[in-house]
Amino acid sequence: MRPMNIGLLGLGTVGLGTYQVLNRNQEEIQRRAGRSIRISMVADLDVERAKSLVSSDCLVVNDGREVISSPDVDIVVELIGGYGIAYELVMSAIEAGKHVVTANKALLAMHGTEIFEAALRKGVMVAFEASVAGGIPIIKALREGLTANRIEWVAGIINGTTNFILSQMREKNWSFQQALEMAQSLGYAEADPTFDIEGIDAAHKASIMSAIAFGVRMPFNHAYIEGVTQLQSQDIRFAEQLGYRIKLLGISKQSQEGIELRIHPCLVPSKSIIANVEGAMNAVMVQADAVGTTLYYGKGAGGEPTASAVIADLVDIARLHAADPLSRVPHLAFQPQAMRDTPILPIEKVETSYYLRLGVADQAGVLASVTSVLAQHNISIDAMLQQPSHHKEERTELIILTHQCIESQMNQALAIIQSLPTVIEPIIRIRKEELI
Ligand code: HSE
Repeated sequence: MRPMNIGLLGLGTVGLGTYQVLNRNQEEIQRRAGRSIRISMVADLDVERAKSLVSSDCLVVNDGREVISSPDVDIVVELIGGYGIAYELVMSAIEAGKHVVTANKALLAMHGTEIFEAALRKGVMVAFEASVAGGIPIIKALREGLTANRIEWVAGIINGTTNFILSQMREKNWSFQQALEMAQSLGYAEADPTFDIEGIDAAHKASIMSAIAFGVRMPFNHAYIEGVTQLQSQDIRFAEQLGYRIKLLGISKQSQEGIELRIHPCLVPSKSIIANVEGAMNAVMVQADAVGTTLYYGKGAGGEPTASAVIADLVDIARLHAADPLSRVPHLAFQPQAMRDTPILPIEKVETSYYLRLGVADQAGVLASVTSVLAQHNISIDAMLQQPSHHKEERTELIILTHQCIESQMNQALAIIQSLPTVIEPIIRIRKEELI
């Protein structure tokens, strides 16, 4: 059988990793796929550099459209990123009847619904294992491995840059800024790290997992997103004293009222496995009714780990391209006509528990006034910590962990507590999940 010819758009870190792993493991991959898979064409703006990295039988061009229109190319692999030119090229590849593999979470989170509809019309596959958590096969697990289950929730550390930053803040007692600079100097964070630290990258990935887990259209526009830029190292220390670590989690839960989709810093029990996922590693926990809790851990970025996922998609396509399109695994796990319009809940309707830090005047009755407002709003306290105030200091800090309540109740209570004259600093509130 002739080789499956791949046209690669973008020879950056992941593109080069894909090229190298395909070459290195060619024989093993062929034994699995049933035919050889080779990159026959590459498009990259830096043609000379690209030529120096690939063998002479691989054609290098500087315009992705040439790859798409080449009759020899069976599958287009998009590794450019973003939703500008990458969107145009992916849509044209689908229109040209080519299968597409992409690692582009931003593109799918923003335009996934339209892309999958177009792919369905043209009878082509759009595969995207590499778009969430790099080398971890979480898309395969959610879409196929757990297909017998009603999924209850998915919670993941799905941004390595922020996990590295939070690990450094905890281990070295660094400020956010110090940890960010270290992440940048080690090449984890981009020069412009906005998408990582503001939680947007994690929201793209959480949206893709949510769509697959619950059979809803891409919900990115309804996600609640809060990054890590406001986190202070003292909260990481107080959380630790109370038996918790702080992680940036992407959480999606199915409840009676709808689907929660939220990305925010979150206290998790220090003894839980997910709390011990440190550095730039990723992990996703899935709670499902039949299997219970499962955990998927590994490298969420990097050339070869991400290439591992890209090539898994290529092998899937090599095996399935001749199948009747309706017999293939649906892009988002559920049959397109069975997708639901379940509402994505606003954050005010989410039920969770909280860590609160209050800078208060160290006077009689302050604690009583704070706890009575919580009680009036039916918010139950789980644990408390008060730091001894230093000599002559007239302020102290109250740390309160609450049981679960609805976010709007907490908002109302905090507005009243903040207005108490004895509460002298802005209240810090971080959500908390036991993940059990
Ligand atoms: N910037 C991402 C991260 C890697 O830090 O995890 C690619 O999604």
